[in-house]
Formats: sequence, C-alpha cells, structure tokens
Amino acid sequence: MAENAHGTANIGVVGLAVMGSNLARNLASREGNTVAVFNRSYEKTETLLSEHPEAGFVASKTIEEFAASLSTPRTAIIMVKAGAGTDAVIDQLTQVFEPGDIIVDGGNALFTDTIRREKAVRETGIHFVGAGISGGEEGALNGPSIMPGGSAESYETLGPILSSIAAVAEGEPCVTHVGTDGAGHFVKMIHNGIEYADMQLIAEAYDLIRRGTGKSPAEIADVFAEWNTGELESYLIEITAEVLRQVDAETGQPLVDVILDQAGAKGTGAWTVQTALDLGIPVSGIAEAVFARSLSSKPAQRAAATDLPGPSDAWTVDDPETFIEDVRRALYASKIIAYSQGFDEIVAGAEQYGWNIRKGEIAKIWRGGCIIRAQFLNRITEAYVDDAGLVALVTAPYFRDAVAGAQDSWRRVVATAAHAGIPAPAFSSSLSYYDGLRADRLPAALVQGQRDFFGAHTYKRVDKEGTFHTLWSGDRSEISAVDTH
Ligand SMILES: NC(=O)c1ccc[n+]([C@@H]2O[C@H](COP(=O)([O-])OP(=O)(O)OC[C@H]3O[C@@H](n4cnc5c(N)ncnc54)[C@H](OP(=O)(O)O)[C@@H]3O)[C@@H](O)[C@H]2O)c1
Repeated sequence: MAENAHGTANIGVVGLAVMGSNLARNLASREGNTVAVFNRSYEKTETLLSEHPEAGFVASKTIEEFAASLSTPRTAIIMVKAGAGTDAVIDQLTQVFEPGDIIVDGGNALFTDTIRREKAVRETGIHFVGAGISGGEEGALNGPSIMPGGSAESYETLGPILSSIAAVAEGEPCVTHVGTDGAGHFVKMIHNGIEYADMQLIAEAYDLIRRGTGKSPAEIADVFAEWNTGELESYLIEITAEVLRQVDAETGQPLVDVILDQAGAKGTGAWTVQTALDLGIPVSGIAEAVFARSLSSKPAQRAAATDLPGPSDAWTVDDPETFIEDVRRALYASKIIAYSQGFDEIVAGAEQYGWNIRKGEIAKIWRGGCIIRAQFLNRITEAYVDDAGLVALVTAPYFRDAVAGAQDSWRRVVATAAHAGIPAPAFSSSLSYYDGLRADRLPAALVQGQRDFFGAHTYKRVDKEGTFHTLWSGDRSEISAVDTH
C-alpha cells in the first residue's frame, strides 16, 4: 500500500462500501492496474487496506490527495449511494479534476439524472460516464456485466479498463459502449426490469407446480435443475433450484416456507415501467412483476381479503409430468415476451433520446456477469444480426417457432391458473399481449368510437384517408375533422 503516491494510479474508486470495495479489488487484480481509493469516511478505507494489502491500493484521506494520486487523464469510478451521494461526489471531483479527465458513475442512477449530470459536467471539459454495473457484490468482485454510456472519446480510455474487469462470456468481455450520456444507465434499468419479469415468471411456475402437483420444494428444486439443462438454462433458474433446496436450520422446514412472502424492491423495476408509460411501450410482463411485489407487500389488505371466495370447483392435476412440461413451456414463451417487450423499450428509448444502441450487442453483454445471464441471449443477438430492423423480437423466426411450439401449453396453464384460482399475472398478461399483438382487429376501434363520442377525439377509417368525427349529439352524421388524437 502506498499513501498518496502522486500520479501513480491509472484508475480510482470513490465509495468503498461493498460494491466499491469489490470493484476496486477486481481492478487491482488485473495486470497493469494501480488503483487509487477514496471514501468519505476514512474508516472504510482503512478496513479495505488492512484486509487487502495484496491489492496495493493507493489510498487518500482527502479528495485533493485522491486526484493527485491519479495519472492523467484521471479516471475515477464513483460507487456511492445513488442520488444525493452521487451529486455530492461529482461536485467534489469536478473541483479537483481537469478537462479531459473522466468521472464514471457506476451506481444505480436514474438515466435522466445521468443525462442531467453529463450535461453539467461536460461544461467543465471533464467527461462524465454513467455506467450500469450488474451482478451485485459477487459480480463487482469477479466480473460484472458493464453498460457504459458517455462520449465515444471517453470510452477509448475507459473501454480497455472496463474490459479487463468485466465478466467474460464465450471469450468476449461483457461490456460495450452502449451510447451517449444516459444510454448505459437506461439499458441497465431495462436489464433490471427484465430481471423482475424473469423472477416473477419463475415464481409463478413454482407456485403452479407446488399447488398443482403437491411436490415439495426440494422436489421442485430437481425440476428446476433439470430445466437448467435445456433452453431455460440461466443463472436465475439455477439459483431458484438452490433456494428451493435450502432447509432452514432452526425449524427443519424448507427455507422458502419460513421466508415472509412480501417481496421488496429498490425501484429500478418501477423506473422501467414508469419510463415505458412515458414512451408508450407496453411492458406488461415487467409491470405485472412490479405490481405482484406491491400486492405481496400489502399485509393489511391481504389479511382483510383472505376470506374472499375462490373457485367453487376443486382442482386436481391428472398427470403431473404433463402439467410440469406445460408449465415449462409456458415459462419459456412468457419469458420470450418479457424480453421482447424489454427490447421494445430499448428501441423506443434510443429513438427518444438519440442513442445508437446496438441491440444484439446488449444481448451479448448480458450473457455473463449479470443476474439475467442466460444461453437464450445468444438467440436474441442472432435475431438482431439476421435482421437489424426487427420490429418485435417475438416475430424473429427462432422466437416465433419457440412460441408456436409452446402456445398450446401456455394457454392450458393460463386457463388452469384462472380455473384453480392461482394468481399468474405475468404468465397471463404475457399471453394476452401475444394475442393482442397478433390480432387482425382489436377492440381499440370501439375505444376510438367511445373517445369520439364523449370527447370529439376523432377517428380514422379503414376504407378511406382522412380524420372523421360523428356528430353524436346532433344528427349523428359523419364529418371530416382535424385530427385531435
Ligand atoms: N449492492 C448491490 O448489489 C448493487 C448492485 C449494483 C449496483 N449497486 C449500486 O452501487 C452503488 C454502491 O452500492 P453499495 O451497496 O456498495 O453502497 P451504498 O450502501 O449504496 O452506499 C454507501 C457508500 O456511499 C457513500 N456515500 C453515501 N452518501 C455519500 C455522500 N453524500 N458523499 C460521499 N459518499 C457518500 C458511503 O460513504 P460513507 O462510508 O462515508 O458513509 C459509502 O461508501 C449504489 O449506487 C448501488 O445502487 C449496488
């Protein structure tokens, strides 16, 4: 460990809680890196230095010393509490950094904050890069999936450093320059939204199997372990088997049975849905996953509703193996919809904010290091390689065939869940979305008629050009009108 060795470190980390410490250790373990570290309170720095002398960290007690310990152009990654903490550190760094230096925010920032910060920092000549970092503590230490935004110029310096610490999937580092300003944090937000949907779908599959077949959590763990050898292979399926197999040491019960059934959230799922609403993109699978967590966390309402009547018919599964296979297929089809919707939001965001996001590259960098890592992502990359202008992922030949093969099972499972009174909001909303997308005619025509009736919002016709309004409170004749959509 060197204290305040001036200008010797090629990369710095500010914020040494769990994520920052692990990222700093990851950086230090890579050939050629000397890592400067700084934390608001010095205790965390001292702890890191004493626990990891092998890392050779260059530590500072003040932000001025920290800046002086970095070689130029200075590059520092901020890993502090998102929000006010990030703004405070950016303020400090912009006082001591110089034009051409690079500030990276690796926290979970809202992408619109990143757009704002990038604009403000750019005025000083310093580069600001919002980088989504996925994979939690373990990823930060051993290799995360990294989604940097910011200028192409800053990526020239940053790219090799981030590539050295990123997860590697099939020989390729899980990092790419996503786009300018907030593009990295935007894509990280969508990643998290998809993660919510994926987790909810898996949870619904578990619930259906448990209630339908009476299998124990440990037996269902075997089912998931088996699924993990096929097209569903993914980190989330793998850890689901681990969680279901876990036995509580205190009670001897399956751990899943002693965990309170109220799911928490840190907000990125809600951001994904809020942004999707603003962009007008239906991300129903993600939205249902966010709402399912909200519903679970309403104990008073749930307690008041426990005696609401359920289905009058008893439900039994005749053939458990067939039912489990139906659920597996329904899960795969619903998962395809969740990803298709997530990529729709990426496309819409890119258009709205002027980012050139290469969708196939995004799927590639999610193959390793992050929570939604999965084999299946290769199919998404291939779909965008085959057709860069693909308008909906679910219409790509591979996914079209996959859903076609699964849809009978999917329909049976959704119908069964409704019949049995088992909530399956993500399964059923995904199927409704699919049926909505493929419909020749939607009842949206009636909605337009209603809107025209009460608000003179006008409508278009299928048989001629123009915009029309019916004189509902007059003689009900139709007139040409100005489009007031
Ligand atoms: N935990 C995860 O799995 C995970 C995964 C992905 C991304 N992230 C993101 O990574 C970032 C860091 O997460 P974390 O869990 O390691 O830490 P955290 O608990 O979110 O934040 C604690 C760190 O922030 C610093 N901090 C807070 N307010 C500050 C301020 N006003 N000025 C300067 N420093 C301030 C603290 O310094 P003191 O020690 O002085 O209090 C400490 O180093 C967050 O943005 C988080 O959302 C976390």
